[in-house]
Amino acid sequence: MAPPPRHRSDARTAAESILRRQASRESAARTYARSLPIVPVRARGMTIEGADGRRYLDCLAGAGTLALGHNHPVALEAIRAVLDSEAPLHVLDLATPVKDAFTTALFETLPPALAERGRIQFCGPAGTDAVEAAVKLVRTATGRSGLLAFCGAYHGMTAGALAASGAAAARAAVAEPGAGVTRLPYPYEYRCPFGTGGERGAELSARWTQSLLDDPGAGVHPFAGMIVEPVQGEGGVIPAPDGWLRTMRRITEERGIPLVVDEVQTGVGRTGAFWAVQHSGIVPDVMVLSKAIGGSLPLAVIVYRDELDVWRPGAHAGTFRGNQLAMAAGSATLRFVCENRLDQRAASLGTRMLSRLRALAAHHPCIGEARGRGLMIGVEIVDADAERDDYGALPAAPRIATAVQREALRRGLIVELGGRHGSVVRLLPPLTITDEQAEAVLDRLTDAIAAAERTAHLSPPNHGAPPKHGAMP
Ligand SMILES: Cc1ncc(COP(=O)(O)O)c(C=O)c1O
Repeated sequence: MAPPPRHRSDARTAAESILRRQASRESAARTYARSLPIVPVRARGMTIEGADGRRYLDCLAGAGTLALGHNHPVALEAIRAVLDSEAPLHVLDLATPVKDAFTTALFETLPPALAERGRIQFCGPAGTDAVEAAVKLVRTATGRSGLLAFCGAYHGMTAGALAASGAAAARAAVAEPGAGVTRLPYPYEYRCPFGTGGERGAELSARWTQSLLDDPGAGVHPFAGMIVEPVQGEGGVIPAPDGWLRTMRRITEERGIPLVVDEVQTGVGRTGAFWAVQHSGIVPDVMVLSKAIGGSLPLAVIVYRDELDVWRPGAHAGTFRGNQLAMAAGSATLRFVCENRLDQRAASLGTRMLSRLRALAAHHPCIGEARGRGLMIGVEIVDADAERDDYGALPAAPRIATAVQREALRRGLIVELGGRHGSVVRLLPPLTITDEQAEAVLDRLTDAIAAAERTAHLSPPNHGAPPKHGAMP
């Protein structure tokens, strides 16, 4: 191994060389690496240190994976305990004490009505594979093939999950991009599809769904299920109103359509409840879980009502469904979040951060809307010099959003972009973020927004930036 560079300039040169090699060797599909040209070498909590010696506050947190931040002692201890025990690390889907403990810990967190009669399927270690499993399960159980999904949704990058997602450009490379999927309007206050916003917009979205399902002339096939995110994450941090989710539950239940809730990003305290469905009190038929449940290592499962458990052995096989380290780190993380009520912490701190961001909007016209739930926060960046549409919304400003991200990075803050046109600046800090760190995040973001606005006024008009992973074109 090469000795560590002694001087800062050596370190910077070493980091630049790594980035150059990455750009020349890795695929054109690489994503975060383009907008965040850093080379992390050490990380603890929400701080990342780059190979160039710079330190960053990480508000991306593995795209919402790191509920406890980087290298939390609780997760590390759990991983070390498995390593020291000589337990097998790879076991396909065999039973192990580590897996048994994970399943127990997970079921203790679930809505009781689901846990009491729940089944779990361990999937390949990515959220997208769990989405595939969920869709397959409801299709098998109902014998129907149609799927109801929402505009703006993001469910992953494999063919079935992409079909259920909203991003047309991402789906274009798949043979049957929208196979069997009927898309419904999701309540989106700032850009309400019905032009009304508020409760009325959510009511109309529900009304549209109901009429589509009940109208024999609607031209749709019988549906195997409905898949929904309680807060659209990649779609631009759009929280679904609780009442709307309850209506979706009622509509699907009355018609015998299984409701699949994708909690890949919203789970494990992120939105201010342990699972986001707990805000509305609904009990889904299937929950799709990944990201934070693995305590920073890859893990994905579905949990579902036992009546749906009609598929045959091997119906959703996969080699990597038994990652013992992820299960151990995951159990430890689930317990830590529960015991320390980090969901409540996310709720209170998230509310405070959001109110500061909303106040900021009064001074920065490029902030169209600041919104979110718990520590899943989005700031929609708009072109304040353009004309408002008939319903009062300004067009998305992806170039300004990209500039905000770049200026934030310069100030030692890592943020993600998402939403339609990649124009929503996203904050997904670890749930362990301190008050001081939250203030520092907001201070740096405020400066970054001001700097981006200044640059926007010096450069030519704003026409779309290339979309990245999850950024809806
Ligand atoms: C709601 C939701 N579902 C599914 C996925 C896909 O998960 P993965 O990237 O692990 O395949 C994501 C990823 O961001 C997500 O946010």
